[in-house]
Amino acid sequence: MDISSLRQEYTLKNLRKQDLKNSPLQQFDIWFQEAKMAQVLEPNAMALATTDEQGQPSNRMVLLKGYGDEGFKFFTHLTSTKGLQLIQKPYASALFWWKELERQVRIDGAVTQINNREAEQYFRTRPRLSQIAAWASRQDDPLASRQDLEDAFDHYELLFKDTEIPMPTWWGGFSISPIKVEFWQGRRGRLHDRFVYSLCESGWKIERLSP
Ligand SMILES: Cc1cc2nc3c(=O)[nH]c(=O)nc-3n(C[C@H](O)[C@H](O)[C@H](O)COP(=O)(O)O)c2cc1C
Repeated sequence: MDISSLRQEYTLKNLRKQDLKNSPLQQFDIWFQEAKMAQVLEPNAMALATTDEQGQPSNRMVLLKGYGDEGFKFFTHLTSTKGLQLIQKPYASALFWWKELERQVRIDGAVTQINNREAEQYFRTRPRLSQIAAWASRQDDPLASRQDLEDAFDHYELLFKDTEIPMPTWWGGFSISPIKVEFWQGRRGRLHDRFVYSLCESGWKIERLSP
C-alpha cells in the first residue's frame, strides 16, 4: 500500500519564545485550555510510554486527570502491564497530539504512585458503572469470552447493590513529575516551532530546537 503522498501542511499558528511562560506547567495550562476551547475530542487523552526491565518500550492511551505542582496524574490498574512497569521502572513519557491546533506536547519525567487516600477520593467521583468495571476487569488478564467479562460485571453489580463501591486494591494512580517538556507547533514547509523546557539546578531552561 503506497501512502507516501499523504501530506498535511500546518499553517494555523506559530510559537515564539516571547509567548512562552517561565514554567512548563503554566505553558501547558494555556495550551490545555486552548485545546478545550478548540473542542478537541478528549483533550486530556495522552499516549503514555513506559519500559520493561529490558528497556523494551510500550505505549497506550490514558486520560490525564489532573495537573499541577504535584505533576501530571492518571489512574489505572496497578497490576496492568503499565502499572507493573511503572512500579519497576518509575519513568514515563506522555504525549498529547491536539491535531485541531496542530500542536504536540511531550512530557518526560519520573513517576510516583499517588497515595491511596487521593486515589480513593478520585475513585469516588467516577460513574458507578466505571467503578463496577474496575472490579470486573483484571486489566490485561486473558479472557475466554466477552461473556465472562459481562458475567463478572453482573456479579459485582449485584454484590455492591445499594452500597458505596470501595476502590479495588489493584487500582490506583500515578503522577509524572516533569523533567523535560516540549511544546511543538506545526508550521508551513516542515519548519515547525519547537521549544523544550529542561529542568536544571537553577530552574527551567528553555531552548528552541530544530524541527
Ligand atoms: C482514549 C483512551 C483513554 C484511555 N484511558 C485510560 C485510562 O485512563 N486508564 C487506563 O488504565 N486505561 C485507559 N485506556 C486503555 C489503555 O489504552 C490500555 O488499553 C489499557 O490501560 C491497558 O494498557 P497496558 O496493557 O499497557 O497496561 C484508554 C484508552 C483510550 C483509547
